[in-house]
Amino acid sequence: MKTPANQPSRMLNTGDSIPQLGIGVFKVDDDECERVVLEALEVGYRHIDTAMIYRNEAAVGRAIAHSGIPREELFVTTKLWNADQGADATAGGLATSLELLGLEYVDLYLIHWPAPLRDVYVETWLALEELYATGVTKAIGVSNFEPAHLERILEAGSVVPAINQVELHPAFQQRTLRAFQEPLGILTEAWGPLGQGKYDLAEIAGLGEIAQAHGKSIQQVVLRWHLQEGVIVFPKTVRKQRMIENLSVFDWELSDEEMVLMKSMDADRRVGTHPEDGNW
Ligand SMILES: NC(=O)c1ccc[n+]([C@@H]2O[C@H](COP(=O)([O-])OP(=O)(O)OC[C@H]3O[C@@H](n4cnc5c(N)ncnc54)[C@H](OP(=O)(O)O)[C@@H]3O)[C@@H](O)[C@H]2O)c1
Repeated sequence: MKTPANQPSRMLNTGDSIPQLGIGVFKVDDDECERVVLEALEVGYRHIDTAMIYRNEAAVGRAIAHSGIPREELFVTTKLWNADQGADATAGGLATSLELLGLEYVDLYLIHWPAPLRDVYVETWLALEELYATGVTKAIGVSNFEPAHLERILEAGSVVPAINQVELHPAFQQRTLRAFQEPLGILTEAWGPLGQGKYDLAEIAGLGEIAQAHGKSIQQVVLRWHLQEGVIVFPKTVRKQRMIENLSVFDWELSDEEMVLMKSMDADRRVGTHPEDGNW
């Protein structure tokens, strides 16, 4: 895919480019999701992050179809749900997602959780490798994988995941995981990049001052920090004004000093499920 000229991108280990900022649609109802994605595309987003379990892939597909934007100008990610893991079920999981999305391929297909109590993520990864070889997904990766989970699929498989999508925000920066995966060529995607609204970003000492110094919102500062960290983000919002705000982070920069200060805001504060516990 071609990232728009005014937007930053990262190069995946497949050689393809991914727009570094997109829109996420977790907890956006199917009813509302078509409008949300259409508005996001109208204001310039070209990267959409959905999942089978969000139950809105059909709405994402309708928005893509109605937008009239050529398929090759979009980057679409979806994820395999836990119940569809395993050597036999995985291909059906992607086939269902493609049908709902109305697409012939996705740009990135992720194993949503390792679900270690099911313990079939290694077989599932090998099934993803086969799907990748057929071209129905242009890249494959994982989500919520800890180093121990990554080690097992690296050992058994022959493709290095392009992405690991994990919880990551100023109070939970995942430094250990990133130091493990990034030298292997696995890029980091942040879910909950704004902390999912589960804590007040304004309460983090120093963030308000940085925002004021740049004349930006605290959310814009956090998104800009992710970009300068090399992390890929897709903040979720259903409001067009916030879509524009969240996309307006490309033409200004945080200083080295501000980046160092933000690094010190890490508080090991997880707001979501621990990967070992995501066994639904
Ligand atoms: N792989 C996984 O397990 C996993 C888990 C969770 C999420 N994700 C993905 O990551 C995406 C993003 O994470 P998330 O949706 O959980 O959380 P998030 O993007 O950190 O936060 C979303 C919340 O922030 C609000 N918000 C967005 N922009 C804002 C702004 N400029 N100012 C103030 N508030 C703002 C939204 O409210 P409004 O909508 O009302 O604006 C919503 O309440 C998801 O949509 C999904 O695609 C993946």
